[in-house]
Amino acid sequence: QLPSTYDDPVQIAIIGGTGLGSLPSPPFKPVATLPPPSTPWGLPSSPISILSYTPPTASSNNPVAIAFLARHGLHHQLAPHEIPNQANIAALRKLGVRCVVAFSAVGSLKEEVKPRDFVVVDQIIDWTRGVRPWTFFEGGLVGHVGFADPFDTKLSNVIAGAIGKPGVLEGDNAVAHPMGTVVCIEGPQFSTRAESIFYRNGLNASVINMSAVPESKLAREAEMAYSMVCMSTDYDSWHETNETVSVEMVMGHMTANSINARRSVEAIVVELGKSENAAIVQAEQWKGMIKGAGGIT
Ligand code: ADE
Repeated sequence: QLPSTYDDPVQIAIIGGTGLGSLPSPPFKPVATLPPPSTPWGLPSSPISILSYTPPTASSNNPVAIAFLARHGLHHQLAPHEIPNQANIAALRKLGVRCVVAFSAVGSLKEEVKPRDFVVVDQIIDWTRGVRPWTFFEGGLVGHVGFADPFDTKLSNVIAGAIGKPGVLEGDNAVAHPMGTVVCIEGPQFSTRAESIFYRNGLNASVINMSAVPESKLAREAEMAYSMVCMSTDYDSWHETNETVSVEMVMGHMTANSINARRSVEAIVVELGKSENAAIVQAEQWKGMIKGAGGIT
């Protein structure tokens, strides 16, 4: 039985999506399981696991503490539009988290992004329907944040470098793509063929998911460094020779992807543990960005 409290600040969080419901021990050593902490925006998707990771070499001397949150809940019981994004981000921020690496299963809208490839996306097109609570700034707390570059560029570079190293993504010539645009739809239904062709040809998006928004927007409002690793599971519905996307297809490729996802987390955490990346982990670039409103905690 792990302790249900953890007193030291934790700066790095992994948000796991479909296929990444936990982190393996070893190499991640569970040190506490925090019951879902109550926030002004309700309860987060899952308890928060605190894990300790000791880098294998002298790349960093200190164990790195990380928080893990399962976006869809411990039993994958939350549909994309049911995810309590505000509570998730607020709960992590309250723990001290400043640096979030999010994982998400995606469909591919480009021939060259094959199922089982990973994409560290650098842009988002918000194609949700505006029904998800998407901001902390309302009800008397007014704030506006820049979102031209929705992900933390330096964090994304570290991630792309880490997962692009030989041997991190295994099998079927899986490729780590360092950039791409994710279009985020409302779901939970997959897209029509016409929509899929439009996202690909009209919007020029690279991949499609249901969870980049509003998670990324809220992380920016919470002054966190946030980046997303997209794990390709299908060619959505535009492809002429591949079967259209189904849950079975997503899950089949996700089982393979989840091994690479865990290896990716390890490679990323090794890099984030290095002292040269301390400013990224502490979100120095974003701290104090919200003027006047006082931030969310
Ligand atoms: N997640 C995985 N595959 C997807 C797809 N084709 N569309 C939206 N979200 C997805």
